[in-house]
Amino acid sequence: MQTLIVYSSLTGNTKKVAEAIYKVFGEKADLLPVEMAPAPTDYDFIIVGFWVDKGTADKKTQEYLKIIQDKPVALFATLGAYPDSEHAASSLKNAAAFLNSSNQLAGTFICQGKIDPKLIEQFRNMPGNHPHAATPERMERYKKAASHPDASDLNAAQAVFTDIKNNFDQIARQGKGKVTTS
Ligand SMILES: Cc1cc2nc3c(=O)[nH]c(=O)nc-3n(C[C@H](O)[C@H](O)[C@H](O)COP(=O)(O)O)c2cc1C
Repeated sequence: MQTLIVYSSLTGNTKKVAEAIYKVFGEKADLLPVEMAPAPTDYDFIIVGFWVDKGTADKKTQEYLKIIQDKPVALFATLGAYPDSEHAASSLKNAAAFLNSSNQLAGTFICQGKIDPKLIEQFRNMPGNHPHAATPERMERYKKAASHPDASDLNAAQAVFTDIKNNFDQIARQGKGKVTTS
Protein backbone atom coordinates (compact mmCIF):
# COMPACT_ATOMS: atom_id res chain seq x y z
CA MET A 1 0.00 0.00 0.00
CA GLN A 2 1.52 3.29 -1.11
CA THR A 3 0.36 6.28 0.93
CA LEU A 4 0.52 9.97 0.11
CA ILE A 5 0.42 12.52 2.93
CA VAL A 6 -0.26 16.07 1.74
CA TYR A 7 -0.48 18.95 4.19
CA SER A 8 -1.10 22.67 4.15
CA SER A 9 0.46 24.68 6.97
CA LEU A 10 1.09 28.40 7.36
CA THR A 11 2.71 28.47 10.78
CA GLY A 12 3.86 24.85 11.24
CA ASN A 13 1.11 23.31 13.41
CA THR A 14 -0.36 21.09 10.71
CA LYS A 15 3.10 20.22 9.47
CA LYS A 16 3.98 18.83 12.93
CA VAL A 17 0.93 16.57 12.89
CA ALA A 18 1.73 15.50 9.31
CA GLU A 19 5.25 14.48 10.35
CA ALA A 20 3.90 12.45 13.27
CA ILE A 21 1.48 10.64 10.96
CA TYR A 22 4.28 10.04 8.44
CA LYS A 23 6.15 8.07 11.14
CA VAL A 24 3.25 5.61 11.28
CA PHE A 25 3.61 4.81 7.56
CA GLY A 26 7.38 5.12 7.24
CA GLU A 27 8.94 4.15 3.93
CA LYS A 28 5.61 3.29 2.40
CA ALA A 29 4.53 6.92 2.39
CA ASP A 30 5.45 10.20 0.73
CA LEU A 31 5.06 13.40 2.73
CA LEU A 32 4.68 16.67 0.83
CA PRO A 33 3.35 20.18 1.36
CA VAL A 34 0.29 20.87 -0.77
CA GLU A 35 2.29 23.35 -2.87
CA MET A 36 4.48 20.45 -4.08
CA ALA A 37 1.96 17.64 -3.97
CA PRO A 38 1.97 15.11 -6.81
CA ALA A 39 -1.21 13.90 -8.49
CA PRO A 40 -2.94 11.40 -6.21
CA THR A 41 -3.33 8.87 -9.05
CA ASP A 42 -0.32 6.67 -8.22
CA TYR A 43 -1.21 6.10 -4.57
CA ASP A 44 -3.53 3.67 -2.80
CA PHE A 45 -4.34 5.92 0.13
CA ILE A 46 -4.41 9.72 0.35
CA ILE A 47 -4.11 11.57 3.66
CA VAL A 48 -4.78 15.30 3.52
CA GLY A 49 -4.04 17.72 6.36
CA PHE A 50 -5.13 21.35 6.52
CA TRP A 51 -5.39 24.34 8.82
CA VAL A 52 -8.93 25.43 9.45
CA ASP A 53 -9.68 28.71 7.68
CA LYS A 54 -13.09 30.26 8.35
CA GLY A 55 -14.67 26.98 9.33
CA THR A 56 -13.40 24.84 6.48
CA ALA A 57 -10.20 23.65 4.80
CA ASP A 58 -7.83 26.40 3.65
CA LYS A 59 -8.11 27.30 -0.04
CA LYS A 60 -5.07 25.33 -1.27
CA THR A 61 -6.39 22.19 0.40
CA GLN A 62 -9.84 22.72 -1.08
CA GLU A 63 -8.32 22.71 -4.57
CA TYR A 64 -6.35 19.54 -3.86
CA LEU A 65 -9.33 17.70 -2.39
CA LYS A 66 -11.31 18.43 -5.56
CA ILE A 67 -8.87 16.54 -7.82
CA ILE A 68 -8.87 13.26 -5.85
CA GLN A 69 -10.82 10.51 -7.58
CA ASP A 70 -11.68 6.99 -6.56
CA LYS A 71 -9.47 6.76 -3.45
CA PRO A 72 -9.73 6.06 0.24
CA VAL A 73 -9.01 9.45 1.83
CA ALA A 74 -8.37 10.43 5.45
CA LEU A 75 -8.43 14.03 6.66
CA PHE A 76 -6.65 15.71 9.55
CA ALA A 77 -6.59 19.31 10.65
CA THR A 78 -5.52 21.81 13.26
CA LEU A 79 -7.64 24.72 14.42
CA GLY A 80 -7.86 27.40 17.08
CA ALA A 81 -11.18 26.19 18.49
CA TYR A 82 -11.48 23.21 20.82
CA PRO A 83 -11.25 19.85 19.02
CA ASP A 84 -14.48 18.58 20.63
CA SER A 85 -16.46 21.66 19.56
CA GLU A 86 -19.21 21.75 16.96
CA HIS A 87 -17.00 24.12 15.01
CA ALA A 88 -14.29 21.43 14.78
CA ALA A 89 -16.80 18.80 13.61
CA SER A 90 -18.35 21.10 11.03
CA SER A 91 -14.92 22.20 9.77
CA LEU A 92 -14.05 18.56 9.02
CA LYS A 93 -17.43 18.02 7.43
CA ASN A 94 -17.11 21.15 5.29
CA ALA A 95 -13.68 20.01 4.14
CA ALA A 96 -14.95 16.50 3.32
CA ALA A 97 -17.61 18.09 1.12
CA PHE A 98 -14.83 19.05 -1.35
CA LEU A 99 -14.22 15.34 -2.00
CA ASN A 100 -16.36 13.91 -4.74
CA SER A 101 -18.41 10.80 -4.11
CA SER A 102 -16.06 8.44 -5.98
CA ASN A 103 -13.83 8.61 -2.90
CA GLN A 104 -14.25 7.05 0.48
CA LEU A 105 -13.58 8.77 3.79
CA ALA A 106 -11.38 6.41 5.81
CA GLY A 107 -11.08 8.56 8.94
CA THR A 108 -10.46 11.98 10.45
CA PHE A 109 -8.37 13.60 13.16
CA ILE A 110 -8.42 17.16 14.48
CA CYS A 111 -6.56 18.98 17.26
CA GLN A 112 -5.88 22.51 18.41
CA GLY A 113 -3.03 24.54 16.97
CA LYS A 114 -1.61 27.78 18.28
CA ILE A 115 -2.95 30.90 16.66
CA ASP A 116 -0.57 33.26 14.97
CA PRO A 117 0.25 36.01 17.54
CA LYS A 118 -0.18 38.60 14.77
CA LEU A 119 -3.78 37.48 14.35
CA ILE A 120 -4.41 37.70 18.11
CA GLU A 121 -3.02 41.23 18.05
CA GLN A 122 -5.56 42.10 15.34
CA PHE A 123 -8.36 40.58 17.44
CA ARG A 124 -7.26 42.73 20.39
CA ASN A 125 -7.74 45.86 18.33
CA MET A 126 -11.27 44.97 17.23
CA PRO A 127 -14.32 46.68 18.70
CA GLY A 128 -16.18 44.71 21.41
CA ASN A 129 -19.14 43.87 19.14
CA HIS A 130 -16.97 42.32 16.41
CA PRO A 131 -17.34 38.49 16.07
CA HIS A 132 -13.60 38.08 16.70
CA ALA A 133 -13.22 40.71 19.42
CA ALA A 134 -10.82 39.60 22.17
CA THR A 135 -13.32 38.59 24.87
CA PRO A 136 -11.95 36.91 28.04
CA GLU A 137 -13.42 33.57 26.86
CA ARG A 138 -11.66 33.84 23.50
CA MET A 139 -8.37 34.97 25.06
CA GLU A 140 -8.55 31.91 27.34
CA ARG A 141 -9.04 29.66 24.31
CA TYR A 142 -6.11 31.26 22.45
CA LYS A 143 -3.97 30.75 25.54
CA LYS A 144 -4.94 27.07 25.64
CA ALA A 145 -4.28 26.71 21.90
CA ALA A 146 -0.78 28.17 22.35
CA SER A 147 0.66 24.88 23.61
CA HIS A 148 -0.76 22.80 20.73
CA PRO A 149 -0.18 20.58 18.96
CA ASP A 150 1.55 18.99 21.96
CA ALA A 151 2.99 15.51 22.51
CA SER A 152 -0.38 14.11 23.46
CA ASP A 153 -1.99 15.47 20.25
CA LEU A 154 0.76 13.86 18.19
CA ASN A 155 0.30 10.55 20.04
CA ALA A 156 -3.45 10.72 19.48
CA ALA A 157 -2.92 11.38 15.75
CA GLN A 158 -0.57 8.42 15.54
CA ALA A 159 -3.08 6.18 17.34
CA VAL A 160 -5.86 7.14 14.92
CA PHE A 161 -3.67 6.52 11.88
CA THR A 162 -2.21 3.29 13.24
CA ASP A 163 -5.75 2.04 13.55
CA ILE A 164 -6.60 3.14 10.00
CA LYS A 165 -3.42 1.51 8.70
CA ASN A 166 -4.16 -1.77 10.48
CA ASN A 167 -7.71 -1.83 9.17
CA PHE A 168 -6.92 -0.48 5.74
CA ASP A 169 -7.68 -3.68 3.87
CA GLN A 170 -11.11 -3.81 5.41
CA ILE A 171 -11.70 -0.11 4.69
CA ALA A 172 -10.64 -0.59 1.05
CA ARG A 173 -12.81 -3.72 0.69
CA GLN A 174 -15.86 -1.75 1.69
CA GLY A 175 -15.52 -0.31 -1.79
CA LYS A 176 -16.48 3.05 -3.05
CA GLY A 177 -19.18 4.71 -1.12
CA LYS A 178 -20.51 8.18 -0.94
CA VAL A 179 -18.24 10.28 1.22
CA THR A 180 -19.82 10.78 4.61
CA THR A 181 -18.41 12.11 7.85
CA SER A 182 -20.44 9.89 10.13
C1 LIG B 1 -6.81 33.55 8.37
C2 LIG B 1 -7.04 32.54 9.47
C3 LIG B 1 -8.32 32.01 9.64
C4 LIG B 1 -8.56 31.07 10.66
N1 LIG B 1 -9.82 30.57 10.80
C5 LIG B 1 -10.08 29.72 11.82
C6 LIG B 1 -11.40 29.22 12.03
O1 LIG B 1 -12.34 29.50 11.29
N2 LIG B 1 -11.59 28.39 13.08
C7 LIG B 1 -10.60 28.02 13.94
O2 LIG B 1 -10.87 27.27 14.87
N3 LIG B 1 -9.32 28.44 13.75
C8 LIG B 1 -9.04 29.28 12.72
N4 LIG B 1 -7.76 29.72 12.53
C9 LIG B 1 -6.68 29.19 13.37
C10 LIG B 1 -5.83 28.15 12.63
O3 LIG B 1 -6.65 27.18 11.99
C11 LIG B 1 -4.91 27.40 13.60
O4 LIG B 1 -4.09 28.30 14.29
C12 LIG B 1 -4.05 26.35 12.86
O5 LIG B 1 -3.48 25.49 13.82
C13 LIG B 1 -2.96 26.94 12.00
O6 LIG B 1 -2.24 25.87 11.41
P1 LIG B 1 -0.81 25.99 10.71
O7 LIG B 1 0.20 26.36 11.78
O8 LIG B 1 -0.55 24.66 10.14
O9 LIG B 1 -0.91 27.08 9.68
C14 LIG B 1 -7.50 30.65 11.52
C15 LIG B 1 -6.22 31.17 11.33
C16 LIG B 1 -5.98 32.10 10.32
C17 LIG B 1 -4.58 32.64 10.13
